[in-house]
Amino acid sequence: MISKKIEEAINAQINAELWSAYLYLSMSAYCQDNGYKGMANWFEVQFKEEQDHAMILFKYLVSRGGKVVLAPIDAVETNWASPLAAYEDTYAHEQKVTALINNLYSIAVKEDDYATQSMLKWFIDEQVEEEDNAQEIIGSLKMIKDNGYGLYMLDKELAARVYVQAAPLAVTAE
Ligand code: FEO
Repeated sequence: MISKKIEEAINAQINAELWSAYLYLSMSAYCQDNGYKGMANWFEVQFKEEQDHAMILFKYLVSRGGKVVLAPIDAVETNWASPLAAYEDTYAHEQKVTALINNLYSIAVKEDDYATQSMLKWFIDEQVEEEDNAQEIIGSLKMIKDNGYGLYMLDKELAARVYVQAAPLAVTAE
């Protein structure tokens, strides 16, 4: 059985992950709208990954005998000044998510909940990658500035990103 405190914290994190999914789907729509098809694909993959993050927490909470309570998902931005602005928002958002995961981990430590600490280790590693990915693209966009050929090439590169189901879900899939 899981403590009430952890149950509430995981439910809040499920909501945060679904909000993230919604945010990236909105960024995908923005990119699609502005002719950046590769970036639209990149954000669509990001959207799917965030849904996976929510599902890992969902399944974990169920497996520990907790109750999943789905709260409303707040509205997200629908417009950005440029692809760079969208990726800067992505990086800032991922830093916030990292802080949320760290906070969840410290609650699990205080509650002596070792299973939750173990489950969260995957998220801690994932956040390093999430922040790094966004930073790398921001670096490229800053280098490219308004160079049309550079933007075209980067968009082409981001079109190649492929969704892979998150490992914790792949393991539990039946
Ligand atoms: Fe689920 Fe992008 O953190």
